[in-house]
Amino acid sequence: MEDIYILGIESSCDETAAAVVKNGREVLSNVISSQIDLHTLYGGVVPEIASRKHIEKINQVVEQALKEADMAMEDITAVAVTYGPGLVGALLVGVSFAKSLAFALEKPLVGVHHIEGHISANYIAYPNLTPPFACLVVSGGHTHLVAVKDYGEYEILGRTRDDAAGEAFDKVARAIGLGYPGGPKIDKAAREGNPDAIFFPRAKVEDSRYDFSFSGLKSAVLNYLNACAMKKEEVSTPDVAASFQKAVVDVLVEHALLAAKEYDFKKLALAGGVASNSALRKAMEKACIQENIEFYCPPPIYCTDNAAMIGCAGYYEYKKGVRSGYDLNAVPNLKLGQR
Ligand code: KG4
Ligand code: ZN
Repeated sequence: MEDIYILGIESSCDETAAAVVKNGREVLSNVISSQIDLHTLYGGVVPEIASRKHIEKINQVVEQALKEADMAMEDITAVAVTYGPGLVGALLVGVSFAKSLAFALEKPLVGVHHIEGHISANYIAYPNLTPPFACLVVSGGHTHLVAVKDYGEYEILGRTRDDAAGEAFDKVARAIGLGYPGGPKIDKAAREGNPDAIFFPRAKVEDSRYDFSFSGLKSAVLNYLNACAMKKEEVSTPDVAASFQKAVVDVLVEHALLAAKEYDFKKLALAGGVASNSALRKAMEKACIQENIEFYCPPPIYCTDNAAMIGCAGYYEYKKGVRSGYDLNAVPNLKLGQR
């Protein structure tokens, strides 16, 4: 069988990324140009700045990915690109670039869903992992509990009703003065704190046991900080970070395990930026061991936005015969499983 080399391109948020993936599972290169330092100045991602930076970087990043893979452009089998969901201006840079490249090289173009990419990061980290499995996707924009029935075949079992898990981390980090990006900073601060120091609510969503809600938790943290200020009590940042993190992790683990057990999944995977969280990884692994469920979690480099995961997802879509036209557009609110 002939080898298939996919050039993956990702620009949905603040990372400009390109990668070459061989036969879906072997990463030959994985180049990520992060804009984090730039956006830190503003306390969050500024869409206009993100798009402009993508334009500046994309040529260089793709060239570097090919160079590190020791491949010429002509050796690529197909180009896969994230076309949603994400920031429209940011997505358009990757989509336009990929379309031009595919056209010039006369190679197939495959549009990829960003969340499908995050889920597929598990296939890279675990070459023997095959569907079906349950996957908890937790990122800055998404919190989805997904039944991965087959390659490219998904059923969303639960989702957040308001803030995404990563968004809650980022907002709480800002409130306690840790700055942006909040997730890694809370993760670090929490190591010095007591997770049982303050009780924050674990929200349940009525009539949907797998759905999540984090806005009440965020408000509870803000109320706690205000109450401390009124009483002129000192706030322990590590304790707030650890207690907030525990509240998020408890709910994520409880719902994911409930779904895995009820749907009889023998495997459970994590994906997305928040999957880098050390407390979440530890707690989910422990719960899986107790329930005799195999636990999967990609290393942090494949949890954050990257293009290797897009190359991997693109491979399975390509194998199914999916081809995008030169009219492929960015779809900021693209639903999982939608084409
Ligand atoms: O998947 P990702 O890189 O981008 C999106 O698609 O959103 O996720 C970024 C999110 C941010 O909200 C960031 O704060 C969060 O992932 N994050 C973390 C950690 N590392 C990144 N959250 C908690 N703990 C971490 N260690
Ligand atoms: Zn992402």
